[in-house]
Amino acid sequence: MMNLNGLDAPTTWLFRDMNEELSDLIGELHARGPANPAIASVGSSTGEEVYSLIALLDEAGMTGAKVTGYEYNADLLARSQDLSLPVGSTLRSLEKEGVFLKGDDLDRLRKLLSAYFDTDLDQTTYMYPKVRDAYLVGFEKADITTAPVPESDVVVCRNLAIYSENDAKRLKAIYENLGRSVADGGILVIDNKSRAMFENVPEIRKALEKGYGPPKVSRTGSVYRRK
Ligand SMILES: C[S@@+](CC[C@H](N)C(=O)[O-])C[C@H]1O[C@@H](n2cnc3c(N)ncnc32)[C@H](O)[C@@H]1O
Repeated sequence: MMNLNGLDAPTTWLFRDMNEELSDLIGELHARGPANPAIASVGSSTGEEVYSLIALLDEAGMTGAKVTGYEYNADLLARSQDLSLPVGSTLRSLEKEGVFLKGDDLDRLRKLLSAYFDTDLDQTTYMYPKVRDAYLVGFEKADITTAPVPESDVVVCRNLAIYSENDAKRLKAIYENLGRSVADGGILVIDNKSRAMFENVPEIRKALEKGYGPPKVSRTGSVYRRK
């Protein structure tokens, strides 16, 4: 599923790089509102990031939040839109995260997986429908290089810009459209490699400094709060 320039690399898994920081951020959103925030996963691939976010929202008691995955690859989008399909493999998730996670973090991942996902004998994993249906879950077609996605309180865009290294024009388009997607006072989360690539383009670096406070950097990624 990778095209020649690598832009369609669909790699994703449940709770990919999701540690305490993302839960803290969701807790903060819960405390300050809005009551039913809109959360966007840009470059949502087959949907694992969306389901991982829903599990974290549910932990924080944020039933009713709207979580939308935006994806430009029609095949991946169709797969995510079929809510009856499995959303990943527990074993694969644990193995991948296990490379990075130890002790408490790995225990937490195990707990999240067993609380929110049902895994059958083939190790395919489904989110419990009663959890999923408590949220406004959707997957829509969007190309972030050409237009913003509908304004959202949190925009998560991880492991998308990394495929545009050395393409300042494309990086600029991605950055500008992401920026237009974040509501006033909203939050932008990008992976750390994308942040480094954005910062290497002087115009993007300046725009980030002007539009956001300094990022909070953790393994989850770089979290920017819009001024
Ligand atoms: C490596 S996956 C990352 C998935 C998920 N965000 C994660 O971190 O687990 C990148 C996804 O972004 C999608 N993508 C790449 N460029 C895009 C664009 N311009 N607009 C929307 N989706 C895009 C790819 O098709 C792929 O599904």
